[in-house]
Amino acid sequence: MSTTYKIAVLPGDGTGPEVVREGLKCLNAAGRRFGFSIDPTEFDFGGDRYLRTGEILPASAVQDLRAFDSIFLGAIGHPDVKPGILEKGILLQLRFELDQYINLRPVKLYPGVETPLKDKGPEHIDYVVVRENSGGVYTGVGGVSMKGTPHEVAEQSMVYSYHQVARCLKYAFEYTKRRNKKNTLALCGKTNVLTYVYDLWERVFHAMGAADYPDIAREYYHVDATCMWMVKNPEWFDVIVTGNMFGDIITDLGAITQGGMGIAAGGNINPEGVSMFEPIGGSAPKYTGKNVINPLASIAAGAMMLDTLGETDAADAVENAVMTVTGTKLKGLGAGRMGYSTTEVGDLVADIIAAG
Ligand code: IPM
Ligand code: MN
Repeated sequence: MSTTYKIAVLPGDGTGPEVVREGLKCLNAAGRRFGFSIDPTEFDFGGDRYLRTGEILPASAVQDLRAFDSIFLGAIGHPDVKPGILEKGILLQLRFELDQYINLRPVKLYPGVETPLKDKGPEHIDYVVVRENSGGVYTGVGGVSMKGTPHEVAEQSMVYSYHQVARCLKYAFEYTKRRNKKNTLALCGKTNVLTYVYDLWERVFHAMGAADYPDIAREYYHVDATCMWMVKNPEWFDVIVTGNMFGDIITDLGAITQGGMGIAAGGNINPEGVSMFEPIGGSAPKYTGKNVINPLASIAAGAMMLDTLGETDAADAVENAVMTVTGTKLKGLGAGRMGYSTTEVGDLVADIIAAG
């Protein structure tokens, strides 16, 4: 009997629904070829629902989502909603409540895709950032007093527990081992200034590496230097592990080196629970409904989802199809500059997946 995956689909705002549709098209094509099926259930969380009902996430949402094998997200962010409300109320809320403590963000330049890095090609840009996704300054610990006065004091603390650090590093070491490329894990921190938090990271990193992963080489870079080397020598990197805030920042830099938001995908992963996959790009309101947005990031997010579900052959087939399309078909990645519409790009990838 073939496997059926129950997938919660959250198309979200703006161009989210358009790219999610193409992602699902490719997941279904992979299912037909590799013998599984996708059973999607759609949830309407996002800006429109919030403006209509005043509710950001229904009380039952988290519990409902726990019943799924995975979550496939489009985009969150609405031009008529103040920035922060939906991002915090939906995206961060789900990451925290479902304890998706890893944010996995591959930085891979696909064939035919232009990078702003001089003299660099796909052979130079192929690494993965493991961003801690549950702690750091994102926990919101802090506060404000005397607001609006010249004496206002604002505090927002970077908080990490040993538990959070250790589980993230363990994932990163295991991921590096399974990836089996350069077998090198780089810790990105700031031990010269954040002498409590990144000292904790560094101690656990070396202790765990020495004890449990003697075959994985360990490197350390300060976050500012990491940015420099990601531009100058991206080929140095295999897997980078870092805290939440640094991970947020360096993965935008990474994304632009791999062609930008049209292509960059990520996974919010709970290795013991329900994970959520998303294109990193936003909701692109000005392109909504025009059938011009690039769906490849959503399709690549679908490939990551398949990988996490254990459908590794199908995941490879989807990613390879994306690479064939970037390498042989598309003129560019930007909305309206691909030479094809959103749905046509989805068809191109799906046809290649089907053909095998
Ligand atoms: C991301 C985004 C989010 C983050 C925002 C929208 C809260 O920038 O997924 O990288 O900071 O994590
Ligand atoms: Mn970000």
